[in-house]
Amino acid sequence: MDKIGTFELNNIYQGDSIKLLKKIPDNSVDLIFADPPYNLQLNGDLHRPDQSKVDAVNDKWDKFDSFEDYDNFTKEWLVECRRVLKNTGSFWVIGTYHNIFRVGKVMQDIGFWMLNDVVWVKPNPMPNFKGTRFNNAHETLIWAKKSEQASYTFHYHSLKAMNDDLQMRSDWWIPICQGEERIKVNGQKAHSTQKPAELLYRIILSTSNLNDIVLDPFSGSGTTAAVAKRLGRKYIAFDREEFYVQVGKDRLEKIKPIEKDLLEYRIETKKPKVPFGSLIEKGYVKIGEYLFSKDNKIQAQVQADSTLYYNGIVGSIHKVSASLLNRETNNGWAFWYINRDNALISIDELRYDYEHKYLNDKTNSLFPQNNIINHNENNLMYGTTNR
Ligand SMILES: C[S@@+](CC[C@H](N)C(=O)[O-])C[C@H]1O[C@@H](n2cnc3c(N)ncnc32)[C@H](O)[C@@H]1O
Repeated sequence: MDKIGTFELNNIYQGDSIKLLKKIPDNSVDLIFADPPYNLQLNGDLHRPDQSKVDAVNDKWDKFDSFEDYDNFTKEWLVECRRVLKNTGSFWVIGTYHNIFRVGKVMQDIGFWMLNDVVWVKPNPMPNFKGTRFNNAHETLIWAKKSEQASYTFHYHSLKAMNDDLQMRSDWWIPICQGEERIKVNGQKAHSTQKPAELLYRIILSTSNLNDIVLDPFSGSGTTAAVAKRLGRKYIAFDREEFYVQVGKDRLEKIKPIEKDLLEYRIETKKPKVPFGSLIEKGYVKIGEYLFSKDNKIQAQVQADSTLYYNGIVGSIHKVSASLLNRETNNGWAFWYINRDNALISIDELRYDYEHKYLNDKTNSLFPQNNIINHNENNLMYGTTNR
């Protein structure tokens, strides 16, 4: 049985997540998805114009005495999450306007490095019953890595394929969780804020690999664990409430992992047709600056005619790298790095950026992508729990 610290993997544990996180070793988790309390500050019940009561988030797990209290709690769990996250890992957190800005500030203060914010647009949001504000039709996700220097997994091409060959955008149109997908216990919603499985599907598929360890410190109905299991990842999740832990465990029992063969990332990654000289012409690479080998031991200077010069060797990015490796040929795109913001990045990244900006990739299409995830019951994320 796989373990992480003293915990057996592939289970949901009851307890305070800050205490439980402290039992997980440093740098041991590949992906964290956190859906913390929102601190909604709801005072009393919310009613529709016909006086019927709105089923709003009014749970005791969402109550904090003050912003300060919430910020302290936020910092404690974020520090632990960052500690357990690998240097190659991804951290995701979701929230609303009530909390996401506070969470984001603490994240930056303690060293996380933001990669994107993603807006989860709800095509079927709950109305603003009082009609006193805009209809709140989205939640915000933050995707971050452990530090500025850290790396991360991103299956860019798979996500592009998922989006009909258009670069996946940062606005995700996904309906709120309802119908068959909504877990019920004795006919009642099991959890007031169950997230749609599609949201986790997209996150886990894009930023982790098969067999990676996925952690959710605020498991609720167990959405993260369920999707992680389905996608052949290992998982561990925490929730303070025994009831939710049981709901999650019951849900997990019904999930069958997808066959490993179907989970491989095999997509052909066609390299952009951008010659090195075009990067110089557009100013991505400056004449006179240096390209570096990955280990930083070799530094070749970029000449005006797009060649590199290193220790008497002159030629294209390919020729010079081949010569250094004592080979007939070599792919210079994979060999050379460039210093940007005090970090070495592959020159390959520059040509992708060039392609997206200048080569009619339609990536800036204003149309929201189709929601292409199949709600078929066979996906087994869903179901009623009768206990
Ligand atoms: C917003 S909900 C998560 C919903 C979940 N993403 C889902 O899809 O069902 C937050 C959860 O965090 C749990 N929680 C709140 N404070 C906690 C704490 N200190 N430790 C562990 N769990 C906590 C609550 O019981 C609640 O189930």
